[in-house]
Amino acid sequence: MIGLKSILRNTTVAVALLVNQNLWAETGQRPDSQSVVAGKALYEQYCQSCHKEDGVGENPIPPLLKMPGYLTAMPLNETSHAWHHTDDQLEDTILNGLKRTQRMPAWKGTITKQQASQIVSYIKSLWSDRILDCQGPKHMSCM
Ligand code: HEC
Repeated sequence: MIGLKSILRNTTVAVALLVNQNLWAETGQRPDSQSVVAGKALYEQYCQSCHKEDGVGENPIPPLLKMPGYLTAMPLNETSHAWHHTDDQLEDTILNGLKRTQRMPAWKGTITKQQASQIVSYIKSLWSDRILDCQGPKHMSCM
């Protein structure tokens, strides 16, 4: 008979494994080439108008000319801080948008979760190995 103790122990192990997997599955993984190709096409369709070719972002607007609160689209390549986020966080931003600016809308309804993940793969393909290794919460202590 399986005792309560053993059930509890197994559950704890399973939860620990899940948490662990989540921590690592999201960061530092090299994107697979099929997702990168699919993601690139989606990026060109939905994101490139603002985040620009190769994710270089919009040119900054001189403060004197800028409307208060207007945010330019930051680079998504490794020169900005997109890589400080995990894959899940990036997907979440794509699907749910950013509260701080209407310019980055929620793409949910237009873009599926799978497509968002493909776009994240494409964005990651713009990063060097060194940056991929330091993706996510690790970025503070990495480098
Ligand atoms: C109409 C312009 C526009 C479009 C189109 C757009 N974005 Fe953005 N995006 C922005 C702006 C503006 C910000 C916020 C900049 C800031 O906070 O300084 C932003 C922020 C982001 C961030 C947060 C990055 C970070 O480092 O925190 C991600 C990720 C992102 N966009 C991805 C995408 C993706 C992927 C698409 C296509 C599905 C997309 N954006 C389409 C304007 C746009």
